Amino acid sequence: MRNILITGGAGFIGANFIRYWVDRHPGDRMVNLDALTYAGNPENLAAIDTLPVYRFVHGDINDRQCLEEVFAGEAIDTVVHFAAESHVDRSILGPDAFIRTNVHGTFTLLEAAKAAWGDFAGGQRFLHVSTDEVYGSLEAGAPAFTETHAYAPNSPYSASKAASDHLVRAYHRTYGMPVLTTNCSNNYGPYQFPEKLIPLTILNALEGKPIPVYGDGRTIRDWLYVEDHCNGIETVLEGGRPGEVYNIGGINEWQNIDIVHLICDRLDELQPGAAPYREQVTFVTDRPGHDRRYAIDAGKMQRELGWSPRHDFASGIEQTIRWYLDNRDWCDRMRSGEYQNYYRKQYGRQA
Ligand code: NAD
Ligand code: DAU
Repeated sequence: MRNILITGGAGFIGANFIRYWVDRHPGDRMVNLDALTYAGNPENLAAIDTLPVYRFVHGDINDRQCLEEVFAGEAIDTVVHFAAESHVDRSILGPDAFIRTNVHGTFTLLEAAKAAWGDFAGGQRFLHVSTDEVYGSLEAGAPAFTETHAYAPNSPYSASKAASDHLVRAYHRTYGMPVLTTNCSNNYGPYQFPEKLIPLTILNALEGKPIPVYGDGRTIRDWLYVEDHCNGIETVLEGGRPGEVYNIGGINEWQNIDIVHLICDRLDELQPGAAPYREQVTFVTDRPGHDRRYAIDAGKMQRELGWSPRHDFASGIEQTIRWYLDNRDWCDRMRSGEYQNYYRKQYGRQA
């Protein structure tokens, strides 16, 4: 049985991970430490909240004292570190929070784990959840990112994640901390904050608003269903070698415009509007420093740990679209308040 500290568990992937883990490992204790920024919502874990194995701590990963109390009080032996500022567009509008949480917050968490775990003889594991964005942009036709691809981050977000990856690596090399790093491609699925491409497209379509597509829409991302990411993290936590990096991806490259059209066409069938939803697609100014293509080579995960994605894109996107159709109240609550300010700054109009 493990005592797991999950940071950022009230966000999109963290909440999916906690729900996934509770089902698969009901005897493990889970402490979810989350600062509840605009992206965090404890409602995502309403079904879990009353379980005796689960505890929520409203805390910041920069708060060393809070972390020390959790490590000691809960005898934490495993960390799964999701907490981050995660949205590239917000990092362009205001990078400070990204440096504070992603860099200094990760550093503080590493220090707290090191102090609590001593000589690391207790079988501890520190899994750092990172992103394919640290590798920068791929040319069309170039081989997908492997774990040895050079780092070349292009946004304040990806640069801050790259810095955190380097710190995690250094704590293994210098202090022998049993760390694991995963670099994953774009996730999609339930509970994703509605400012990211897929939920934004679904909601703006249904609400009759412009569907903003950056640049020419031919930018490529590699999409993975969030449950497959959770399964990948579980696989690395259980079988990964300390100090190693594992790339997790969907082997599922799509141009943005094709995903947007696919969603519009499916919504035309599920909830038809007055006109085809594609008519709402609006090409807008490109994101500064926009990486043209990401693609993950998940060969190491396959060869060493036997992992591959279980969900195909057709079923994953269908479940996702239906989830957003069934959870409009959740979306409204997530978009109240601060989201309106962000949307005005980013797209120049009310959400
Ligand atoms: P998210 O923005 O939905 O959630 C982030 C969570 O972290 C929120 O609950 C927020 O309240 C919390 N948080 C933020 N700052 C904090 C702080 N200082 N202390 C404690 N909690 C804090 O993000 P997500 O999409 O779920 O991403 C989770 C992790 O996975 C991130 O590290 C991200 O870089 C990584 N990742 C995301 C994707 C993706 O497609 N979403 C892909 C690869 C990797
Ligand atoms: O690749 C992994 C990364 O995926 C994670 O590390 C990040 O945390 C996560 O947010 C995501 O980053 P992206 O920038 O790729 O995701 P986003 O949903 O913001 O954008 C996906 C693509 O769609 C990207 O090429 C930009 C484009 N886009 C996005 C928005 C919000 C648009 O064309 N229009 C939009 O309005």
